[in-house]
Amino acid sequence: MDIDLIKVRLKEIISEERFVHSVNVSRVARELALRYDYNADNAEIAGLLHDCAKDLNYKTLEKMILEYNIQTDEIIQKIPKLLHPLVGAAIAEKEFNIQDPAILKAIKAHSAGAAQMSLLDKIIYLSDKIEPFEE
Ligand SMILES: [Fe+2]
Ligand SMILES: [Fe+2]
Repeated sequence: MDIDLIKVRLKEIISEERFVHSVNVSRVARELALRYDYNADNAEIAGLLHDCAKDLNYKTLEKMILEYNIQTDEIIQKIPKLLHPLVGAAIAEKEFNIQDPAILKAIKAHSAGAAQMSLLDKIIYLSDKIEPFEE
């Protein structure tokens, strides 16, 4: 799916404020990717989609865990802050047709981090913290 179409569809499922945040994260991610020699389009896509499940209510998150067969545990299951990265990765895959496992993993790792973080994981984790983008 191309980046403009991702933006159109993303706008339909998150709040205006979250959309602005996501675009800002995607711009910072693109800049960092260029600086650290990572695929800039993939970094931008991961940044755009990292919070795609953040505005879903708890009931919907729970429903999607079942629907998409998302692996969680008892602790994660009760904490929406930990759930939205996992559900977000599933939405990115199933509804935005993102196939690159590196992008999906960066979405999963964006909130709590991960034991083994790839360059893209780090780019998205950091971009999420340091936006808004300054020209
Ligand atoms: Fe998030
Ligand atoms: Fe975020």
